[in-house]
This record gives sequence, C-alpha cells and structure tokens, in this order.
Amino acid sequence: MITAEQNRLLTQVGPGTAMGGMMRRFWLPVCTSAQLPKPDCPPLHVRLLGENFVAFRISSGEVGMLEEYCMHRRASLVLGRVEDNGIRCLYHGWKFGVDGTVQETPNHCDDRFKASIRAPAYPAREAGGLVWAYIGPQELQPPFQPYAFFDGHDANRCIFRVNTPANYLQLYEGGTDSSHVGILHCNLANPDWKDKASFVPDASDYSSVAMAVGDNAPDIDLENTPYGFHYAARRDGPVLDDGTTTDSVRVTAVILPTGRIIPIAQYQFFIFEVPQDDFKTSTYIVAHGPKPFDRAKMRVVLGLNNEKLWTERDSEYLATPENRFGQDVSRMGETWSGLEGLVPEDASIGVSMGPIVERHKEMLVAADSAVVRLRNRLLDSLKLHGAGKNPLGLSITDYSKVRSLADTNVAKGKRWQELLPDNLGNTQDIKTKELAGI
Ligand code: FES
Ligand SMILES: [Fe+2]
Repeated sequence: MITAEQNRLLTQVGPGTAMGGMMRRFWLPVCTSAQLPKPDCPPLHVRLLGENFVAFRISSGEVGMLEEYCMHRRASLVLGRVEDNGIRCLYHGWKFGVDGTVQETPNHCDDRFKASIRAPAYPAREAGGLVWAYIGPQELQPPFQPYAFFDGHDANRCIFRVNTPANYLQLYEGGTDSSHVGILHCNLANPDWKDKASFVPDASDYSSVAMAVGDNAPDIDLENTPYGFHYAARRDGPVLDDGTTTDSVRVTAVILPTGRIIPIAQYQFFIFEVPQDDFKTSTYIVAHGPKPFDRAKMRVVLGLNNEKLWTERDSEYLATPENRFGQDVSRMGETWSGLEGLVPEDASIGVSMGPIVERHKEMLVAADSAVVRLRNRLLDSLKLHGAGKNPLGLSITDYSKVRSLADTNVAKGKRWQELLPDNLGNTQDIKTKELAGI
C-alpha cells in the first residue's frame, strides 16, 4: 500500500521536487525529429518537468534548446525567427545560438555587452528520430545513453508522440501491467472474447492480433536490474518432440525513469513516458525493426487513425470526461472497449483515472506485482539520488543491448534470464549495487 506522501513523491516532477530532481539527471526526449523537419523551420514549444523551453533547428541542421522566455524582456522565443544559425526574438531582435551565445542585440549595439552575457541554453542532441535534452545540473551532465533503436536506417523506425492529460506514472504503470492486456485490449490480445470460432492467430507484420495469447493470466517473474527491472509473463508452452516440457515466456524491460521495451514478434516498441508537468505526459512510441515500416498501417495497429482523438499535427490526445474519454458506446457490441486500438485504450484509461491517481485508495491484488515493483524501484532511485548517489540506471553507459523478448519457448526449469544476459538481470546482487552506484 502506498501512502499519500509517497504518492506525492512519485508523481510531482516540477523544479525542486524529489522526482523532478531525479529525472533531471537524465537525457530525456523533448520532441520528435519530425517536429523540427528542416533547417530554419519554425521553433517548437517544449514543456518538460513543469518548465517551458523552445527547441529549434538552425541553418546547419543542428538542434538547440533554450529557456522559452527571452533573456531581454521575456517574450516567448516560440514566436521567434530561426535564421542564419540562430534564433531571433521577434520583439527587439536579440539573436541566440544553440549554445546560448548572444549573436546580436540590435537595440543595444555594444559588442562587449553581447560577449558578457549568455542565454540559458541546454545541451540538446538528436538520435533515433528523437531530440533529447539535458536540463539537470551542468556539472552532473551524464554521458548520452544509446538504445538499440538508434541503429539502422530511419525507415526502420516508426515514431509516434501522444500528449495525454494525465500524470506520467499512471501511464507508466499501465505499461508494466500485464493483467490488463487480455481484458482492456481483448480485441487485440484475446480476439475470441466474443465469438471463439472467429479467431485465427496471425503474427504478420501489421496484424492487429499479433499480441494474441490463449492464456491471459500468466505467472509473472520479476527481477531487478541496475536500471529498474525486467519481468517475464510465463505460460505453459508446448511439449517438444523429444518430450521436453516448456514455458512460453514474454519479457519486458523497464528502464527508469521513463522507459520500457515491449516485445512484438517482428519488432520492438521502445516507449518513454516523459512528464510535461504533473498533469500531462508526452508518450514517445518508437517501433523499431529489421525492415522499413508502413506508417499508415502502424497508425491503424496502434489505433491512432481516429482523428477525433489524435492527429499527427499536434500530437494531442483529446479524451476528456466531457467526450466520455473518446468512447463510442454504440460500438461496444462489436468491440470490447468502444475505443478501438491499443493507444486510445491505454490513454483513455489513464485520463479516466483523473490527473493524478489517488493511490492510497487503491485495492491492489497479486496481479499488480509489476506495478508495485515499478513504484518501489522509482522510490529506490529517489533514495539513491537523495543520498547524493547516481539514480538507478544513470551509471549504465550503453542501453543498446537491453531488450525485450517476444513469446519464446524455454524448457521448464531453465532460467529465461539466460536468454537476455545483456539485460544485466543475472548480475549478482553485489554487482547490481555497484552498477547502480550504491
Ligand atoms: S524581449 Fe526578446 S529581444 Fe526584447
Ligand atoms: Fe495497455
């Protein structure tokens, strides 16, 4: 059971909060590369951990991020002109480089003045189709941590951003909660919920039933890792020709403070729940695989094709209590949820819980074990950070081999962890502590 005070600790992310401080120690995604599509394109407002910034791409193609409000008299630089390798404030024309260098101050022509000041700029870089920034203490800037989806051709990634009006933790918890999958997403994961005769398993690339499983109450094996934890949903697998009995395992990796990797047979989903503030979250969904994606088909798979609820234009998820969280009750004879698709089902449930879940009023059961583990690992990480040590995961220099595992048969009694040695779950406790900086 979580207390109201622990709930506050876990969910408040603004400046000066414990969670906000811990999250600020990491490079975080701030927008997609596609949102800054070309050099000198219009700048973009970024809201991150309760603060406002402007992201922009200069003439050279490099990306930058500054505090939103101009250092002169605080006009928003989101209105600015991006030109000639800098961003120019519309009000009096002060112009800034990506590193905060003051390039021009047209209403105060004094070169020494210009050289003596610097705009608040934050380290920013681009990788894996996302723009990342670091807004923590300058002296503690960590190395940039690469993920597997950074590799390969851009076409082998398909990225969606969904801005949902709910606290990050309830969305993150949904992402580690196996027991909802066969229920909330049963049109996809348990498609015979209504008419058993109609379901034909299909693991093809854009199949809406690629996640389907017969048994929707698997055993859950959890194991801590230096960056959070990973867990296997374990079901009875087939008996092999030689008589070996097997478990079918599906492994998800949870990479604090915002990430997870979800397995699908043909590709992996890397998902980051990045708080804009306490009440709103930018979810970045990166599908990554060995061949190019058809974006239109991926939109259908994810349920992002209903423009009443989400558009590519601004990424806003539009469920509210007033529109019944986007639910179409007239469709509930043929679909389970009346929401159609993975993302709307998860996002609308997240919004329906209210901006911040009152966790001290919950009634948890054993099936919530991964959700409880997520909270405990976030609290572990806060403790480390509070003690002046590296939060969980910050000491990992490379995430590119950490991965999830789609349904795989493992001989009963054999440890599934051995299939994923680079997830670091096999690490002895003492080593785990070392890696975590404890
Ligand atoms: S407020 Fe930006 S130049 Fe004056
Ligand atoms: Fe879900």
